[in-house]
Amino acid sequence: MLNRLFQVLALASLATAADPNYEQLFRPFVSPETEIATFSEADFAEVASPRWSTWHAPTFQAAIKPVYEADIQSIVRIAARNHIPFLATLNGHGGNDNYGRVQNALNINLGHFNSVTVDPVHNKLTVGGGVTFGEIAEPLAKAGKEIQTGNAVCVGMVGATIGGGIGTLQGIHGLVLDSLLSVTMVDAKGDMVIASKTVNPDLFWAIRGAGANFGIITSATYQIHDQTNDGNVIIANYPFPVSASRSAWEFVQSYDENIPAPLVLIPSIRYNHTTEEVILQVSVIYYGPMADAQPYLDQVEALNPISSTVETVTQQELKAIFSEGACDRGNRHNVYTVGIKKTDPDTMEEALQEMTEFFETHPTYNGSLAIQRYGSQAMLAVPDEETSYPWREINAYVLFDNIYTDPALDADVDDLSRSLRTKFEATSGFKDPQIYLNYAHGDEPLNQVYGASKLPKLRALKKLWDPQHLFGAGYPIDY
Ligand SMILES: Cc1cc2nc3c(=O)[nH]c(=O)nc-3n(C[C@H](O)[C@H](O)[C@H](O)COP(=O)(O)OP(=O)(O)OC[C@H]3O[C@@H](n4cnc5c(N)ncnc54)[C@H](O)[C@@H]3O)c2cc1C
Ligand SMILES: *[C@@H]1O[C@H](CO)[C@@H](O)[C@H](O)[C@H]1NC(C)=O
Ligand SMILES: *[C@@H]1O[C@H](CO)[C@@H](O)[C@H](O)[C@H]1NC(C)=O
Repeated sequence: MLNRLFQVLALASLATAADPNYEQLFRPFVSPETEIATFSEADFAEVASPRWSTWHAPTFQAAIKPVYEADIQSIVRIAARNHIPFLATLNGHGGNDNYGRVQNALNINLGHFNSVTVDPVHNKLTVGGGVTFGEIAEPLAKAGKEIQTGNAVCVGMVGATIGGGIGTLQGIHGLVLDSLLSVTMVDAKGDMVIASKTVNPDLFWAIRGAGANFGIITSATYQIHDQTNDGNVIIANYPFPVSASRSAWEFVQSYDENIPAPLVLIPSIRYNHTTEEVILQVSVIYYGPMADAQPYLDQVEALNPISSTVETVTQQELKAIFSEGACDRGNRHNVYTVGIKKTDPDTMEEALQEMTEFFETHPTYNGSLAIQRYGSQAMLAVPDEETSYPWREINAYVLFDNIYTDPALDADVDDLSRSLRTKFEATSGFKDPQIYLNYAHGDEPLNQVYGASKLPKLRALKKLWDPQHLFGAGYPIDY
């Protein structure tokens, strides 16, 4: 009984400690340009990172927008000393449920860490910890260079890298984290540390797969390459009648074993709210000249799609196409995912049926299912033990992209997503589910996300580098 009372008293004093005067605590130790705002202040929305989705969003008592590395060092030290939980973010795309459990924290907005430097002579790109994939596109193209990225312009380059980084150039260059050469970061002591293959190699191993757990990366240097096909890409879209769905899935299945590195296949299921019809589409992307792409396009044409659009675009234009709608804010956006080794046409048929029924009974639901089939050669060329990233055998990423605005739909959307996820897991070609961290929903067992073979070392390194668990509340490696 007494014990219980002490616990309550301890909680009460914590609650007072968790209501600090942010201006008083931080202002004397950060640069004058650093902005600070509490939630109730008018400029809070400018100081805090924007938030992409309204679904299970983290909440913040205050936000701080540092300008220099020394500012971040001070912020981490002061927050740690005063037991103030914090989360460093850029555009707030973290979408999983754990991230949403971060409540009443201090938001550290990385928006000022937006420098981009291309070194074409040594084929290196150095970016600040708050640079988006969109922001590197032009400087790279101007230098005639490229790097593998995620597909949408709004996503943080470092944020995506530290969880993997998958995208359409993956077949040619591999995961984004495989192009990482070194990082500079603020650790749990507030010290600046470097991590690379030769400096703090264990830390470098850990941040390439579970990076949000070990510190705040202020800058990162990547390997870049000469542009493929002068920066031009072919994108072809083929809508199919639902009656021809099976041949579309079988076409994708025929590339399960081997897919040429420049080729990307993205079959998808969505809904046209005007015509009230399911849209079934196969998108083909090819990083090369039309003559090389033609045999693959001919294969799809032979399956009698409803129509076809074939375009040659720049890599930047391709990103703009992928970002349409995806980068929009204000939706109750959340995702589920399964990594697969095999395409199973029966599972696809079941998904089509289940989604059709769902679309018809939930007219305001605007979600989709897409399978991102990228080449694996470059990813497999890196040995598994190189990085903490665990899932190099995944051939394709199934993405259930839930978009809606009405919270009343939550339960039904969860039911649909979980039902589909279970089906895809059963026919994935893997014994146990393999879940790509950056697409995770947040309800998966950690072994399925970080890999049972990687977690013990990750947790040992966590004890060493961040024993107080200051970092990684949104992407925890232990609960
Ligand atoms: C529209 C959209 C498209 C996407 N497309 C792809 C895709 O094509 N390929 C892909 O792989 N993923 C994709 N993702 C997933 C994306 O990789 C993850 O959501 C990623 O976590 C986003 O990082 P962020 O910095 O944009 O988001 P934030 O919410 O700002 O950050 C996410 C997490 O990373 C941590 N973090 C961010 N920056 C740093 C830093 N500098 N140092 C330390 N920790 C940091 C944050 O603390 C947080 O835990 C997409 C997401 C969205 C919303
Ligand atoms: C839906 O169909 C209408 C009419 O055919 C068309 O104009 C519109 O572009 C379609 N929308 C989508 C998202 O495909
Ligand atoms: C569905 O989302 C697309 C973008 O992905 C958007 O263009 C369209 O207006 C949305 N439709 C509805 C009914 O919300």
